Amino acid sequence: MVQMRHVRRDGGRRALRVAVMSFLVQVIVGSNDTDTCDENSALSTKRISDSRRRRPQHQITRLSQRDFQNGTYRIKESGRYILMEDIHFGPRPDNDYWPEPQDPNYPASQFYLGFFAGITVEADNVEIDLNGHTLAQHKEFYLLQRFWNAIELANRVFVDNEGVSSLNFQEGDKEQFQSGRVPAMRGARKVHIHDGTLGLSSHSGIHGNNASQVYIENVIVRDWEVSGIHLNGCRRCTVKGCEVGPTSSQVPARATFSNARFLELYTSRLKSTTLLQHCTAHHCTAVP
Ligand SMILES: *[C@@H]1O[C@H](CO)[C@@H](O)[C@H](O)[C@H]1NC(C)=O
Ligand SMILES: *[C@@H]1O[C@H](CO)[C@@H](O)[C@H](O)[C@H]1NC(C)=O
Ligand SMILES: *[C@@H]1O[C@H](CO)[C@@H](O)[C@H](O)[C@H]1NC(C)=O
Repeated sequence: MVQMRHVRRDGGRRALRVAVMSFLVQVIVGSNDTDTCDENSALSTKRISDSRRRRPQHQITRLSQRDFQNGTYRIKESGRYILMEDIHFGPRPDNDYWPEPQDPNYPASQFYLGFFAGITVEADNVEIDLNGHTLAQHKEFYLLQRFWNAIELANRVFVDNEGVSSLNFQEGDKEQFQSGRVPAMRGARKVHIHDGTLGLSSHSGIHGNNASQVYIENVIVRDWEVSGIHLNGCRRCTVKGCEVGPTSSQVPARATFSNARFLELYTSRLKSTTLLQHCTAHHCTAVP
């Protein structure tokens, strides 16, 4: 696991930068796909130039604020995605910032924690060019959604059998509130994220499980609460020229506030469906 946390805001920006850089230079990746991240191996410039050469040259998609108005931007196709302006992510204020459980783009198995990311990378060969811009959580959404990563390098936030147990669906389970089956957790492969800022977030700047060949370059990751770059079980992941920190210093709510938000969501859904039933030993009838 690679996890970078830098807590101190003062004490010399330059000293911090030097410390971050020397740490980052160590956070490099094994030599083949079966390796996990090795925090002690040296930075290989060869690997970086290999990774540059592998930069995908597919279709170009330009992203602006309106592309995020309905929720997480799910990258499901290879290509180059360019931010055209700063994004302050806070979708669906009309629905208390939750996805609709019936929305096929946001099935409960993947989005039961709400919009847990600004962008999910669910395809291989993806370049995210931040283009000098910032991707951050909108202030109000930051308060209300305590579980958010600017970029998630997978289609789901937890691997099977991990996470919030009663809600963490497994591959092949029946999808809730809509048809279909829960897809496998899929870590992204061959991702290049570069040149911009990942700002205010209630969890992390970049989060991923089981991602491989990830190259993060010239990115400032700041104002997060949990971690700057958090990659579990990454293979051939490189972080270069990035600045991580300072953390968010506002932290507006306790974890219990987040629990209350989820409780409110699920109890209101219960109320609004016919799930309330009166059961005898032999059969159940819906309570009107
Ligand atoms: C990958 O690296 C591991 C550990 O260094 C080694 O045992 C394994 O043989 C390597 N696999 C390939 C396909 O090179
Ligand atoms: C958001 O949803 C509305 C209503 O369904 C739709 O008209 C609009 O095109 C969607 N916007 C994006 C960017 O997907
Ligand atoms: C991680 O990815 C590898 C290679 O794609 C796959 O074989 C493995 O099952 C994945 N592990 C998890 C926990 O999803």
